[in-house]
Parts: sequence; C-alpha cells; structure tokens
Amino acid sequence: MTEAKRILFTGGSGKAGKHVVPWLIDRGYRVLNVDLKPLDHPGVDNLVADITDAGQMFNAMSAYAGFDEMEPGTGVPTFDAVVHFAAIPRILLTSDVETFRINTMGTYNVVDAALKFGIRKVIVASSETTYGICFSDGQTDPHSLPLEEDYDVDPMDSYAMSKVCNEVTARSFQRRTGADIYALRIGNVIEPHEYERFPGFFETPETRRRNAWSYIDARDLGQIVDLCIQKDGLGYQVFNAGNDDCSSNLPTRELIDRFFPGVPVTRDLGEYEALFSNRKIREVLGFSENHNWRKYVK
Ligand SMILES: NC(=O)c1ccc[n+]([C@@H]2O[C@H](COP(=O)([O-])OP(=O)(O)OC[C@H]3O[C@@H](n4cnc5c(N)ncnc54)[C@H](O)[C@@H]3O)[C@@H](O)[C@H]2O)c1
Repeated sequence: MTEAKRILFTGGSGKAGKHVVPWLIDRGYRVLNVDLKPLDHPGVDNLVADITDAGQMFNAMSAYAGFDEMEPGTGVPTFDAVVHFAAIPRILLTSDVETFRINTMGTYNVVDAALKFGIRKVIVASSETTYGICFSDGQTDPHSLPLEEDYDVDPMDSYAMSKVCNEVTARSFQRRTGADIYALRIGNVIEPHEYERFPGFFETPETRRRNAWSYIDARDLGQIVDLCIQKDGLGYQVFNAGNDDCSSNLPTRELIDRFFPGVPVTRDLGEYEALFSNRKIREVLGFSENHNWRKYVK
C-alpha cells in the first residue's frame, strides 16, 4: 500500500478550509491543519501556529503531524504539498495595514519555509477580488468580460492588493526554485447551508455585481485543490476557482446588458455561463463541478 500523501494546510479551520480539509481526508490524504485555532474533525491533525511568524512556519514545515509518526524512528517525514488558505479574508475586519501585513508576510513565510524544506507543490489562496470590482470605491467596470486569468488585475483595496502581492511572491519563488506553485483566485465561497441565500440573490441581482455573480461551492473547491495536488509540472499558474454558472437566475447576457453595459465581451458565452470564468480549471485540471446551485435552489 502506498503511504498517504502528507499535506500541510494553513487556515483549515476557516469557512473554506473546514470543507476542503475533510474533502482531502476523505480522499486519503493525511492533513496537518496549521491555524490559530484547531479544526475539530475526525482524522485531522492540528498545529496551532501563526503564519506571520517565520520561525513558527519553519517549525511547522518540519513537524510530525501526529505522535504515530514518531514510531518508525526514521525522523520527520516531508510534506508532499502545502495548501495555504490562512488569511484575513476581506477588508473591514481589521485595519487595512494589518490585512496587508498578515496576508503578505504570512504568504511569504509559508511559501519560503515550504520551499526551503524541499516541498515541490504549493497551492496558495488568491481571490476573485484581484479583478478590482469587488472592493472598489464606487461601481467599477471590468476592462473586459469574462474575467479570465490573463486579465491585468488592478484592485484598489488592501485585501485584494495583498492577494496580487501574494501572486507575485508565488511567481518569484517559483522562478527561483522551479517548484510548482499554483494560485487559486477563489470565487465567493458558498457552504452547503448558504444555498438558502440564493432566492434573495435573485430578488436583488445588483447585490452580486461586485463579485460578478461568482461563486464556488466549498466542496467543489475541495475537488479543485485535490486536482492541483495531483497535477504536477505546471510551474507557476493562476487558476480561477469558480463554478460553471453565475449565481443568478438571469441569463448571462442580461446581466451584462443591465449591469456592465459597454464592457467588451471577448468571447461567446453560454446562456448562464459564469462571468468569473472557470474554463481554465476545466481544460487544464479536468475540473467537473458536482454542486451547481440548481441542485439546491428551486
Ligand atoms: N470566503 C470567500 O468567499 C473567499 C473568496 C476568495 C478568496 N478567499 C480566500 O480563501 C482563504 C480562506 O478564506 P475563508 O473564507 O475560509 O477565511 P476564514 O477567515 O474563514 O478562514 C481563515 C483561517 O485562517 C486563520 N488565520 C488567520 N490569521 C492567521 C494567522 N496569522 N496564522 C494562522 N492562521 C490564521 C483563521 O483562524 C481562519 O481559520 C483566504 O485566503 C481567503 O482570502 C475566500
């Protein structure tokens, strides 16, 4: 029997991580969750540590996941991959400078420590907010639609700035080491119980303009992370992590005409196709969604 792949996952106790970590455990990975607070879930190992402290991250990368790993007497095993989700997940939770500091220094520390311990696969959480519409002052139009990974991202706020900075950090470390580092621009995360919010979204479609009606089911995000762990050899990559459709019951063309008139549309779009495009994860990683909102919302 092959050994379970060991994954160091930061931020696994949060909204997204508490679904993604169990998804990975169910697929046979061993997961060490590194977070300020533990995740209480069967099979998850926890290490309470702060990503903004480089020493703690170097320690975490060389840690036993659990007591059982001490038994063979062969030293600490190496992690096969690092998934880095820990962050301040938006503006207006703490000061802008703290958001920027924690997110950028935390990511530097995690990626630096991972690579110096010889880990060759790092997946970092970026965000749909990098496209600059979400937390902009006033209603901002994108330069073009759909939002795809080659877009010249230009946000105005400290959170999205930190995520753009993290993508640059990831790219630089990848160039220096040749490891695989994939940045996931995660869409608006929807937990299973949150589908009850969708009828409200439909009544007021304008409230979802800022995230371009993006959504990613937290369990489908688990699949995307798993696919990233499995897919080697791509170097530095950015992937939008979203579901196939908009989180709206209106056709995509109507959303564009009503809320983004005049914005150039660069390719043909399906009737309800997401404006936050997931074409790249479908084509490159083989992503196939399991949790379209239509399964849960009448
Ligand atoms: N929720 C969304 O809709 C969304 C959208 C796009 C991107 N993201 C990104 O996805 C990731 C996960 O988001 P989330 O919604 O689960 O956020 P969350 O706030 O629910 O979870 C983040 C976790 O990180 C931990 N954390 C924060 N600071 C830490 C530190 N200094 N050291 C160690 N752990 C720390 C928290 O304890 C928490 O468990 C984040 O990077 C976020 O920016 C989230």
